[in-house]
Amino acid sequence: MNELYNESLAKEWIDWVEESNPNGTREKEIFTYIKKWANKLNPTCLLDLGCGQGSCSQLINSKIKYIGIDASPTLINRAKQLYSSKNKQFILGDVYDIPLEDNSADAAMSIWVWSHLENLELAAQEMYRVIKTAGHFLLITASPETYEERKTWYKEYSIKGKLLTGIFDLDNGKFLTNTTLYLHSTKEIEGALKKVNFKINHIGEMGRSESSGKGMYLVIEGYK
Ligand SMILES: C[S@@+](CC[C@H](N)C(=O)[O-])C[C@H]1O[C@@H](n2cnc3c(N)ncnc32)[C@H](O)[C@@H]1O
Repeated sequence: MNELYNESLAKEWIDWVEESNPNGTREKEIFTYIKKWANKLNPTCLLDLGCGQGSCSQLINSKIKYIGIDASPTLINRAKQLYSSKNKQFILGDVYDIPLEDNSADAAMSIWVWSHLENLELAAQEMYRVIKTAGHFLLITASPETYEERKTWYKEYSIKGKLLTGIFDLDNGKFLTNTTLYLHSTKEIEGALKKVNFKINHIGEMGRSESSGKGMYLVIEGYK
């Protein structure tokens, strides 16, 4: 299993998510977008690939069966503790080897995960396998247009090939230590999805930066 969020990083993430600003971009823009997307599609079964401690599961209405998958035991345990219910399930698993049958879901989303993945084609291939024909996906990830600006958010970092590793400054006296960002281009992200036969029907951005005016997050929607 590719357990990228080790226990200490997982704890820092839990701490940040559970104390994060209700007026921040994540809550106001990203969460609103996910809610609208899920409500419009109204899938019977929705996967959340790299669900973390499950905070996006709160956005999904109780008529939809939600399955969150994450490689971190600490985050999956926290998700179960906070959000498990009749229609919400959390499973320890790798997005490169999703522990589900082929064609098991009507839709999948992956929020702030693809920037942590080295092998986008394998992740795309697995997402394609578990989604039913005509099923939809939503990716929200770091916008490649903003990598330079993002570098200023780290207390320190180093880059080896495409992998940036560093100490991410949460701007509240706290840090995500040893966190990663793969510097994939938009063309590479799009290319991985198309290579496995996904159709893309929307590419956009959200979360406008006050300093650069650029959208900090890339949004890609498509279907099988
Ligand atoms: C920034 S967090 C986002 C969590 C969640 N999507 C959210 O928005 O609250 C990134 C998550 O991706 C997960 N992750 C990274 N690589 C993974 C992999 N190969 N398989 C499963 N999960 C992975 C991490 O464990 C972590 O929970």
